[in-house]
Amino acid sequence: MAWDILILNCKGLVQVREEISLPLKGAALGKLPIFNNAYLAIADGKFAAYGTMDDLPENYQATTTIDASNRFVFPSFVDSHTHLVFAASREEEFVMKIKGATYEQIAASGGGILNSAKKLQQTSEEELFERSLKRAHEIIKSGTGAVEIKSGYGLTTKDELKMLRVAKRIGKETALTVRTTFLGAHAVPKDMEKEDYIEQILQEMIPAVAGEKLADYIDVFCEQGFFTADETERIVERGKHFGLKPRIHANQLHRSGGVQVGIKTKALSVDHLENIGDEEIELLMESTVMPTALPGAAFFLGLPFPPARKMIDAGLPIAIASDYNPGSAPSGNMSLMTALACIKMKMTPEEAINAATLNTACALELEQTHGSITLGKVANVFITKPMPSVAFLPYAFGSDLIDMVILNGSIIN
Ligand code: NIG
Ligand code: FE
Repeated sequence: MAWDILILNCKGLVQVREEISLPLKGAALGKLPIFNNAYLAIADGKFAAYGTMDDLPENYQATTTIDASNRFVFPSFVDSHTHLVFAASREEEFVMKIKGATYEQIAASGGGILNSAKKLQQTSEEELFERSLKRAHEIIKSGTGAVEIKSGYGLTTKDELKMLRVAKRIGKETALTVRTTFLGAHAVPKDMEKEDYIEQILQEMIPAVAGEKLADYIDVFCEQGFFTADETERIVERGKHFGLKPRIHANQLHRSGGVQVGIKTKALSVDHLENIGDEEIELLMESTVMPTALPGAAFFLGLPFPPARKMIDAGLPIAIASDYNPGSAPSGNMSLMTALACIKMKMTPEEAINAATLNTACALELEQTHGSITLGKVANVFITKPMPSVAFLPYAFGSDLIDMVILNGSIIN
């Protein structure tokens, strides 16, 4: 037994599973396995062994030993929806919103996504990388180990490719596992007709993104004032033709038909869902699409929260992601997202933690390697500060309860 890292005396090892039936849905979403008074061993970047302290082999060898008395060890969060590559924050719009403007009014007056696009187009690739890298380090510190990053603030072929290259580089130069998504259809550029822009997406952007292998997925902002359900279908079908699997921004501001088009095109996930009704819930029940709530965006914009309780009680799975972006969710803190899921969506702490680890891993096709403490999976964990129970994490919202991060079997801080 020669291990690289041995964590001893864990008060609880959270999300320990060998047999997993995924995604976690309905009643199963409420069950979170915890191993008390445990050890966890890591070797070659993977989980190598765990058990109760009583079962720790006597003849073990470990290069580094960590005492986790009174602390919990969680699998790192998987954040399946972010826009963390952007050039500048937009707190001036935050103030406009405080004074009464709506997200749509700000967007219509050239703010919003177009504001971010203008700033990103004026920023060099190197500078964009440096600014985004800071956010990547910030989310690592807050417990995220794998993340999806979208384009969508470029809105020209050149700038969309620039964003995706930066996103991929974050995956190479940090310990984060990164999945990238092409979101050219995020907004229509200022001086362009929508139909012309859609043609550019179909004929120029998608082939270029796929040609340079810059994205795993394709996304569309399916929303009134942005892209219709029919346009969404055309765009993602073209993406599929080039090997990009769909995931959809659906039903954030209106009942846009986004859920229906997500199901029809066999999207991996439909994200947002602030405005869904029984019809969408019933359709989701018959599909394999992962419904994803982004509670940070609903909170920040003062929108209704997705009816998570109703969805789970109906037997659906649900994933929780941050939507980290400068306009509608300027936080990538997944502990806070679990707190919002509990407080505003009446999810239990167990449901919220499952939704932010294993179900988001499913949404990113990372369930074989991430999202739980399972032998052979990538050794991504965070160790908490001393705390009384697992529920304390979402309960103590806003507190920084993360003491140490280990990613790919290496201690980060
Ligand atoms: O997911 N809804 C569309 N896109 C982002 C917001 C983008 C922005 O305002 O910059 C979101 O909320
Ligand atoms: Fe988003």
